[in-house]
Amino acid sequence: MTSHIYSDADIERAADFLIKKVPIELHPKVGVICGSGLGGLADSLEKTVEFKYEEIPGFPVSTVAGHAGKLVFGLIAGKPTVCMVGRFHFYEGHLLKLTVLPVRVMKLMGVETLIVTNAAGSLNHEKCKIGDIMVIEDHINLPGMAGNNPLIGANLDKFGPRFPPVNDAYPRELRSLAIKAAREINIREFVREGVYCFVSGPSYESPAEARMMKAVGGDVIGMSTVPEVIVARHCGMKVLGFSLVTNFVVTRRERTADEESPEFNLPAEDNVETPNHEEVLAVGVMRSKDMQNLVKKIVELM
Ligand code: HPA
Repeated sequence: MTSHIYSDADIERAADFLIKKVPIELHPKVGVICGSGLGGLADSLEKTVEFKYEEIPGFPVSTVAGHAGKLVFGLIAGKPTVCMVGRFHFYEGHLLKLTVLPVRVMKLMGVETLIVTNAAGSLNHEKCKIGDIMVIEDHINLPGMAGNNPLIGANLDKFGPRFPPVNDAYPRELRSLAIKAAREINIREFVREGVYCFVSGPSYESPAEARMMKAVGGDVIGMSTVPEVIVARHCGMKVLGFSLVTNFVVTRRERTADEESPEFNLPAEDNVETPNHEEVLAVGVMRSKDMQNLVKKIVELM
């Protein structure tokens, strides 16, 4: 099932390769992980040097349409930054600890702050509309609670402790900075804060699952990000996360003609539109300039 035989030594192999190849002035302090349709974030970088994943020893290879698969090193406002264009997902069949390998490679290269982005479906339809950008204030790690946490296995003491906290994974000062940056570039009106739920995918949620995740406090739901955040927190990085809301999650099965009648009084916010990957990518394209400007402004203000 796994597309790559994983070894912890791959982290060092990849980092050693990149440390040698990337000019010292581009050794990154900031890492950016680009979500679905958000690969354009890398266009914010100047003086770039890039590596396709297949050129980097020890790196896995991304298999999803819309995820190109390269690391781009460069400068944003003079600050050395690396963009990961195309991430690794659990649903591709990779081991979770392989999906987070790039975060540890970034750590070994000197990254202190990680900006993670993703495309997500809205569970909380009143708060998170299509095209909104949600600053992640907290997460629910559903696979993690069921035994799939990227830190399971021997602890890599060199990176962090056996039992790391995550209550402070999304520090307030970075979230405040994001809001300030949004205000400065005039997109504050569609920026929210909320809770991201991680599910493994690749199937989208059933309506009952979507209602459950909303009931336990999720605002949006997606198939990435949380494993990377946990590993970043484990090794002491500060994290800022954004979800671009690309669709409303289906919270009810298709209604029968009877249910459509007024006496059923179903909530108006119920959504019955089937989600699809093309729509997810299209909203990414629609908002990619705003996301790019936002990330650029944040790095500038940092
Ligand atoms: N569910 C899960 N992951 C997603 C969705 C969704 O509705 N939209 C984009 N990623």
